[in-house]
Amino acid sequence: MDNLITLVNKIQRACTALGDHGEESALPTLWDSLPSIAVVGGQSSGKSSVLESVVGKDFLPRGSGIVTRRPLVLQLHKIQEGKEYAEFMHLPRKRFNDFAAVRKEISDETDRETGRSKAISTVPIHLSIFSPNDGQPESIVQDIENMVRSYIEKPNCIILAISPANQDLATSDAIKISREVDPRGDRTFGVLTKIDLMDKGTDAVDILEGKSYKLRYPWIGVVNRSQADINKSVDMIAARRREHEYFKNSPEYGHLTDRMGSEYLGKVLSKHLETVIKSRIPGLQSLISKTISELEAELTRLGKPIANDAGGKLYTTMEISRAFDQIFKEHLDGVRPGGDK
Ligand code: GDP
Ligand code: MG
Ligand code: NA
Repeated sequence: MDNLITLVNKIQRACTALGDHGEESALPTLWDSLPSIAVVGGQSSGKSSVLESVVGKDFLPRGSGIVTRRPLVLQLHKIQEGKEYAEFMHLPRKRFNDFAAVRKEISDETDRETGRSKAISTVPIHLSIFSPNDGQPESIVQDIENMVRSYIEKPNCIILAISPANQDLATSDAIKISREVDPRGDRTFGVLTKIDLMDKGTDAVDILEGKSYKLRYPWIGVVNRSQADINKSVDMIAARRREHEYFKNSPEYGHLTDRMGSEYLGKVLSKHLETVIKSRIPGLQSLISKTISELEAELTRLGKPIANDAGGKLYTTMEISRAFDQIFKEHLDGVRPGGDK
């Protein structure tokens, strides 16, 4: 697995060097051929908590805000009358009356922080909306949903669909949106969080056993750190140990212990990723050889590259492509499709 992660990281870095950031493109890009994992679910369903415990590191802010590529801390203020407007903390005294401008500012401010790399940042954007209406403005909810959809509709995206056990599954945002883009459940993993917060006398056994809501891959239940644990800085190792104890000692879930918990979820995901990456390697290789031969043909057509801009750029691109090929050769022994590594 380490070998595979190294390989994918190198390919991703090389893609970035080639100017391929996975943005919209008519042609299948290398970036699109790589698997990614998206964690989806309603607000405060436990997405950040699950992502952290799978990775095994505390690196995300958790709490009650909405998170995009940067955490968006959204405050809603009710005003008695007048037209709805918004303010950002980083732009004091500037009133936004137009929500398209708000969306653009969120996106621009995200790019300012992350450098347009589609990377995430933990530095929050603070947005206040002043509105005479109750509830969350439709436009923001819709925008976030659309952004999520644009990630998870890519066939190479593995979906971690997070639903909290203390809410009705029928209303789960994660189930709803993952069904939309992956109706057969080929790349969706259902994760049930907050099992410890269910009402007394109720349990999630029917769900976890696949009796009440069957998914293609079995449900995995987790118990993440509570807000009180986070405030007390309970570390990952202690949290995992406690989670394990929770399932093992539970009269309801004891028989399911071996396939519950964050650690198990991490293993299931690694295994799945490994299978996906191995199956993609031949395709990736042919895509790379094709790029190389196309560039070579182009170079021949243009004649020898001299010190002009276009030629120079082409040459660099080709060199990077060759580097790619080298990366594959170095790593292929460990990750040959069908190999047993
Ligand atoms: P997100 O908004 O989906 O990213 O949710 P967070 O991961 O930030 O979690 C929201 C809140 O729920 C935080 O206070 C977490 O500590 C808490 N939380 C998440 N999962 C669990 C869980 O399994 N059990 C308990 N008790 N609290 C949880
Ligand atoms: Mg979060
Ligand atoms: Na949250």
